[in-house]
Amino acid sequence: MPIQIHKTDQLKPPPDQSKLGFGTIFSDHMFNMDYNPDEGWHNPRIEPYAPISMEPSTMVLHYGQAVFEGLKAYRAADSRIQLFRPRDNFKRMNRSCRMLCIPEFDESEALDALKKLISLENKWVPSAPETSLYIRPTIIAMDPFLGVRASFTYRFFIILSPVGAYYPEGFDPVKIWVSQDHVRAVRGGVGEAKTPGNYAASLLAGNKAHEKGYTQVLWLDGVKRKNIEEVGAMNIFFVIDDELITPALSGSILHGITRDSVLALARSWDMKVAERQISIDEVMSAHAAGRLQEIFGCGTAAVISPVGELKYGDQVIEVTDGKVGPLAQKFYQTITDIQYGRTADPMTWIEPVT
Ligand code: PLP
Ligand code: COI
Repeated sequence: MPIQIHKTDQLKPPPDQSKLGFGTIFSDHMFNMDYNPDEGWHNPRIEPYAPISMEPSTMVLHYGQAVFEGLKAYRAADSRIQLFRPRDNFKRMNRSCRMLCIPEFDESEALDALKKLISLENKWVPSAPETSLYIRPTIIAMDPFLGVRASFTYRFFIILSPVGAYYPEGFDPVKIWVSQDHVRAVRGGVGEAKTPGNYAASLLAGNKAHEKGYTQVLWLDGVKRKNIEEVGAMNIFFVIDDELITPALSGSILHGITRDSVLALARSWDMKVAERQISIDEVMSAHAAGRLQEIFGCGTAAVISPVGELKYGDQVIEVTDGKVGPLAQKFYQTITDIQYGRTADPMTWIEPVT
């Protein structure tokens, strides 16, 4: 489908790259595309970044029928721009669409639209160390209707935001609180989908964690509240007896692309790796026995985030003396070297834009 391009003549000044933070600044243009049952996905267009006008009865506002993604574009030293595994994001977005009864879109057309948008917004891809352009593709239900059913009409949009570190800690270790009272998702629900309700469901526990001085919540399974699932915006890894362990994709956690990248690298380094059920009791007793070497989270926004402290009930454990562990450091270095084009890309994860 040909993409119409309407450029703005009111370009914003570029942001101060030393103060980017996460998710507050948006580029000059966005991608939009609509869906209705007669035309399917149609009218793909790049136009000025602007509010979306909708009726108060619009279905997404009432029942949360929406999916989104998060990926990044990186500026290499020679100024080229490259994406990290974008096809996997659009594939996962379509998987989320199936779970939310949203019509699927053409993944290669979406990637093509994204590349055109980024090329137009070239100056918004920052070049300062540790910065990138965060990309947020989203689909929302647009019918003005108050009954509960899947919408007939949708809007697909992509917005761009130059970002620095997701956590105020940057790459310094974060403190994580294990929630015993709240659960995020259960098997058979939509925990595997990247859909707003999962994040709304995490807010109350997130606030409690912050009140206690912790950065994020580590979720346990929704039934026994024993087995570890994931962190608010990251998948989680443990190193016990030199083995890298992460919870299996059990049906209620996100299939993280960074998680998959960590696993692929670890296997290519011949590390001992396990994707399996791991309980919080196993982690606490491994720590008590001196066998827990590292904990780290991983995700697009968070990259690799070492965990320095974990609180479960009355027990507080310090991990790797509250410092960055050697494996977290190695994964961070290897993944960011590939993302910023500082090294070869043996896994063919990079998709060039310019
Ligand atoms: N888990 C949740 C709940 C997330 O929001 C994210 C971020 O996207 C992740 C895990 C990590 O996934 P990815 O590595 O694909 O960004
Ligand atoms: C991401 O890592 O892309 C996320 O979506 C995490 C969070 C900002 C929701």
